[in-house]
Amino acid sequence: MIMGNRPIGVFDSGLGGLTVVKAIKKLLPNESILYFGDTARLPYGIKSKKLVIEYSNQIAKFLIKKNAKMIIVACNTATAMALEELKYNFKDIPIIGVIEPGSIQASSDSLNKNIGVIGTVATIKSGAYRHALKSIDNNINVFSKDCPLFVPFVEEGMIEGEAINLIVEHYLSSFQNNIDTMILGCTHYPLLEPVIKKYVKGIKLVDSASAVAKHADKILNEYKIKNINKKRGSLDCFVTDLPRQFEKLGRIFLGESINEPQLVDGF
Ligand code: DGL
Repeated sequence: MIMGNRPIGVFDSGLGGLTVVKAIKKLLPNESILYFGDTARLPYGIKSKKLVIEYSNQIAKFLIKKNAKMIIVACNTATAMALEELKYNFKDIPIIGVIEPGSIQASSDSLNKNIGVIGTVATIKSGAYRHALKSIDNNINVFSKDCPLFVPFVEEGMIEGEAINLIVEHYLSSFQNNIDTMILGCTHYPLLEPVIKKYVKGIKLVDSASAVAKHADKILNEYKIKNINKKRGSLDCFVTDLPRQFEKLGRIFLGESINEPQLVDGF
């Protein structure tokens, strides 16, 4: 198969990475996508680095076997913990994560150089966003906050209403250190954008999904592996558990209906 016609492999611990797929489909509609959601082992955000590296390696191997020409780690936790290892282990194709593109976007959006980052416990604890932002501009002040209850709420589809309002207020009310930009450092958080906006008025929210799509476009051009076919690309999904539930909730993340994913054994 011609290199450019091969699919892009995208993976996440579950459904959240579909927000990245949505952005890729919008920017690069003729690229085909293989999406892997590790629904049996979700959440990654509370797991050890060793386990997240092990899971990420298995998934990358799977996607490469399925002919992926590039891999997007559409999970902040896996990017924080396993991206370097993946790049080292699989040198034949480009592998990108979500943290660098989101950080570049935030640093260009911020005027006062005070940037907030919210994410899972593992992402925040890893310091990966702080590191990425500081290496772009050492004068940036980074204010981080882990928000462990956001993922289960989104997974339940509870993205509006009294309960999530209270949770958002609980996490974010003490978190307004003069920041003018805030990175939604978890693939689930774009779905909470409307409610988060109410509590951080006047602050620019950076959803890394569209930044990742732009970065993917740049890499495809650099490697000359862009699909130049005019045909619309396909989306094939693989999960490690509960394919029906993925199909049902996937619609919310993707903003359109989704074919039932294939259940993958051996993970
Ligand atoms: N996909 C994860 C992330 O972006 C959130 C869900 C999880 O904890 O596995 O950090």
